[in-house]
Amino acid sequence: MSRRVRATLIGLASLLLCLTGIPAVAATSTATALTASTYSTNGADTCLNCHADPDVLGIFRTAHARPDDPRGPFGHGGLQCEACHGPGGLHARRMGLQRGGIVDFGPKATASVERQNQMCLTCHQSDAATQWATSAHAASDVACADCHRLHQSDDPVRELATQVDVCGKCHVAERAALFKPSRHPLRDGTMDCTSCHSPHGSSGPASLVADTVNDTCTSCHAEFRGPVLWEHQPVTENCDNCHSPHGTVQPALLKERPPFLCQQCHEAAGHPSAPQTPTGLPGRMPSPYLLVGGCVNCHSQVHGSNDPSGQYLMR
Ligand code: HEC
Ligand code: HEC
Ligand code: HEC
Ligand code: HEC
Ligand code: HEC
Ligand code: HEC
Ligand code: HEC
Ligand code: HEC
Ligand code: HEC
Ligand code: HEC
Repeated sequence: MSRRVRATLIGLASLLLCLTGIPAVAATSTATALTASTYSTNGADTCLNCHADPDVLGIFRTAHARPDDPRGPFGHGGLQCEACHGPGGLHARRMGLQRGGIVDFGPKATASVERQNQMCLTCHQSDAATQWATSAHAASDVACADCHRLHQSDDPVRELATQVDVCGKCHVAERAALFKPSRHPLRDGTMDCTSCHSPHGSSGPASLVADTVNDTCTSCHAEFRGPVLWEHQPVTENCDNCHSPHGTVQPALLKERPPFLCQQCHEAAGHPSAPQTPTGLPGRMPSPYLLVGGCVNCHSQVHGSNDPSGQYLMR
């Protein structure tokens, strides 16, 4: 019997029953196994009749499959597979040929991102979702399952050694920067993207773990937290004025090399070091300052000074 014919018959049956005064719900209950919102009769056992391949069975080695966790899909009375995949009664009856109410995940998913994430957020409102709703990832329709793998015991996005590859699939520029000569030790497995970012969103800029760039940086580089006696204004303002956190071709993650870095803000003219700049007069004897090299050879306390006479950031 085709689906449409059957649906029409059900419609007719309930109409008749309504007319005779018997509640339609009771009459249709034998037929509801055919709607997209019906759960399978035997939970995971139903699904595993057809899906018992190793990739799927991996879920039984994860936190989600704990039978003694009442909050989890496999806790007593839980919907098991269907807690995430939605009602699969119709799908199972139709030998999987029809998606029915099934929610699928991953790059080839037919379910909308909103629908996929809803499944997860029914349980993860409190932890993952505190900042999620306002995060850049949510705003750009990124799915939980774009980052998370749930059918394997080690979720690559939560492992130090593999996270960069997961994030780098989409953030190609940031990943590429990690191969520049100066970089944070992300490829050595000492740090990862979440050392600085909260992928579920945060109250800071660029989903940083702290409220400002400087608070993020100084959570590790505490020596530059300040306050200092002689501040260098761009440093207290934003480490980003001079550094690029993902990687640079200049040493010390600098956006530019001194003197060019410094001369974006400071005039070369009228300063003892002026002759070392490219505008130095041709034919003139090289200035001793040229030999001294960059600005930081003299102004070594570029991040600020605590020395009573450190106003020029030289000691
Ligand atoms: C009678 C066999 C059968 C049963 C029972 C069954 N499925 Fe399926 N399922 C299939 C087939 C066939 C496909 C289509 C596979 C494809 O398109 O490559 C499928 C596809 C899926 C997909 C999409 C997979 C993908 O590659 O995107 C999910 C998710 C899924 N089933 C979950 C379930 C769940 C959950 C249950 C239990 C409620 C279930 N299935 C019960 C046969 C079955
Ligand atoms: C029925 C409720 C439920 C649903 C639905 C659910 N989860 Fe969970 N999830 C849990 C519970 C319970 C834990 C274990 C938490 C703990 O141990 O503190 C968990 C743990 C996790 C963890 C951490 C795993 C670990 O090893 O500690 C991640 C990541 C996660 N869930 C993501 C997801 C995503 C993504 C989805 C949607 C595809 C999802 N969850 C759907 C209840 C659920
Ligand atoms: C951009 C990638 C990304 C997306 C998208 C994402 N997560 Fe996560 N999630 C992570 C990372 C990375 C961790 C590990 C956190 C850490 O190391 O600080 C994590 C951790 C978790 C945990 C473990 C508990 C915790 O807070 O540490 C849960 C639960 C979780 N995510 C659920 C979700 C849910 C639900 C969604 C969708 C609403 C989601 N995640 C979307 C990357 C992501
Ligand atoms: C906590 C949520 C959750 C539970 C519970 C869950 N799945 Fe999944 N399932 C997912 C997500 C997310 C994916 C996408 C791939 C991944 O994360 O590994 C997926 C992928 C799949 C796929 C497609 C696999 C592929 O890569 O071709 C099938 C089939 C499937 N699940 C069946 C099941 C069955 C059967 C059960 C119960 C034994 C189950 N799932 C339990 C979240 C879940
Ligand atoms: C499926 C693709 C995808 C994956 C995987 C992904 N992202 Fe994103 N991410 C995006 C999109 C899309 C945006 C929003 C547009 C943009 O800024 O490029 C974004 C934005 C961001 C932003 C800017 C946030 C803001 O508030 O401005 C950060 C930081 C970020 N992602 C970090 C991560 C980290 C860390 C991971 C891995 C844990 C990750 N992303 C994984 C797609 C992805
Ligand atoms: C040492 C800290 C740190 C680490 C580690 C880090 N980031 Fe960032 N990231 C930042 C800061 C600070 C910003 C904001 C300022 C900026 O754009 O330079 C930022 C900005 C971003 C942005 C937004 C860029 C834009 O143009 O809006 C994305 C996307 C991003 N990071 C992704 C990643 C990814 C992916 C990783 C891991 C490969 C990563 N970050 C590792 C500190 C870090
Ligand atoms: C999670 C800790 C952590 C955070 C957060 C962090 N760093 Fe680092 N940083 C490190 C480590 C570890 C190194 C490598 C030190 C080494 O190799 O001795 C490093 C090295 C550096 C270097 C020297 C690089 C070189 O090539 O010599 C600079 C500059 C730097 N960080 C700036 C920043 C800035 C700017 C921020 C904020 C956007 C930041 N860091 C946030 C841990 C961190
Ligand atoms: C005005 C430009 C400027 C700003 C702003 C700045 N730095 Fe630097 N930073 C430098 C220069 C120049 C070097 C290289 C110093 C050298 O070669 O002796 C450096 C080196 C570093 C180093 C590695 C060498 C060391 O001394 O350990 C770290 C770590 C660092 N900066 C962190 C930070 C942090 C954290 C901030 C924000 C609080 C910040 N910087 C802001 C110019 C700056
Ligand atoms: C983003 C702009 C910017 C950059 C880049 C920058 N500075 Fe500064 N610098 C300032 C500002 C603003 C002041 C405060 C000027 C004032 O108080 O009159 C300052 C003050 C100073 C002072 C103290 C001057 C005084 O009169 O107290 C020195 C020395 C100095 N900078 C050296 C450097 C060096 C060396 C570099 C490169 C490593 C550098 N600056 C990079 C903006 C910058
Ligand atoms: C050979 C050491 C030396 C080098 C190299 C040097 N300076 Fe200075 N700088 C000084 C001394 C000494 C002063 C103290 C005031 C003075 O004598 O003019 C000073 C003062 C300053 C001042 C504050 C006074 C003013 O003129 O505004 C700034 C800003 C400054 N230097 C920036 C730089 C920058 C930028 C560079 C690199 C292009 C640099 N310095 C290279 C020695 C040096």
